[in-house]
Amino acid sequence: SAIGLGLLTATLRPNTCSSSYSPGSPGGSHFEYIITDKKGKNHNVGLIQLNRPKALNALCDGLITELNQALEAFEKDPAVGAIVLTGGEKAFAAGADIKEMQNQRFQDCYSTGFLSHWDHITRVKKPVIAAVNGYALGGGCELAMMCDIIYAGEKAQFAQPEILLGTIPGAGGTQRLTRAVGKSLAMEMVLTGDRISAQEAKEAGLVSKIFPVEKLVDEAIRCAEKIASNSKIISAMAKESVNAAFEMTLTEGNKLEKKLFYSTFATDDRKEGMTAFVEKRKANFKDQ
Ligand code: CAA
Repeated sequence: SAIGLGLLTATLRPNTCSSSYSPGSPGGSHFEYIITDKKGKNHNVGLIQLNRPKALNALCDGLITELNQALEAFEKDPAVGAIVLTGGEKAFAAGADIKEMQNQRFQDCYSTGFLSHWDHITRVKKPVIAAVNGYALGGGCELAMMCDIIYAGEKAQFAQPEILLGTIPGAGGTQRLTRAVGKSLAMEMVLTGDRISAQEAKEAGLVSKIFPVEKLVDEAIRCAEKIASNSKIISAMAKESVNAAFEMTLTEGNKLEKKLFYSTFATDDRKEGMTAFVEKRKANFKDQ
């Protein structure tokens, strides 16, 4: 069942999305632009579906605000061990809301810190899997790249088409795409705006797996369930350590990894995991 998060009102949205209002979910979530649910055997997977289909899930300010609220709620929910973020079959997200940006001036962007709340998802400790069907363009591609794992549906398309609008990626596209696929392809995508297919994205290392469109979300949930069955605290350490690889030198990163590895020995779950192996039984992690 939907988890009925955040009774948001329009007053909480400084920049309410204009034309393409899509009503809330039949499942009962109180959000306007997203649907939330809990999946998995023990409801241990938080599912967030971007749900602004008439605008191909363009990421207006209100949508990002709701996304952040849902992420926070799942982050605090002790039952949830991993999160899946998805969109619709036609679009994961077609980018930042161009209609919202059209009349913005430099002064507005600078003084309001435009898009600065987008990267909240990168500070979530629980692993987040993006399940991308259809278009992941501009900010949509950037949002997927802020997640920890990307699964793609067979018809997914990724692009950074900002150049065609006379601007450049503004939510990490030039940085995360380059780290994911290397300079030549990133440069080509950012300079031409050309889209790449799911297959090309997999070959380039942007996504880890491809599934038929209708199986994608279930497969992402299955992966999330697997992650959620491990210790949450140890998963958070593993995620922190992998992410450090994008921020640090090899020496610094290895040092951090070693400290986090040693830190696992301060937890009950490390003891339980190794004891369960020795006793030939399944580990029973308590997130302690
Ligand atoms: N912002 C606002 N509205 C959008 C949108 C966006 N990024 N993308 C699509 N829409 C709207 C369209 O305006 C249209 O609304 P109306 O019915 O009110 O006209 C509706 O969604 C359906 O779109 P189309 O009619 O264009 O659908 P299509 O199937 O013909 O084309 C598409 C699909 C190729 C994805 C096309 O919509 C498109 O090119 N969208 C824009 C993609 C883009 O440039 N994204 C980058 C945005 S900039 C950015 O993201 C900056 C950043 O780095 C953060």
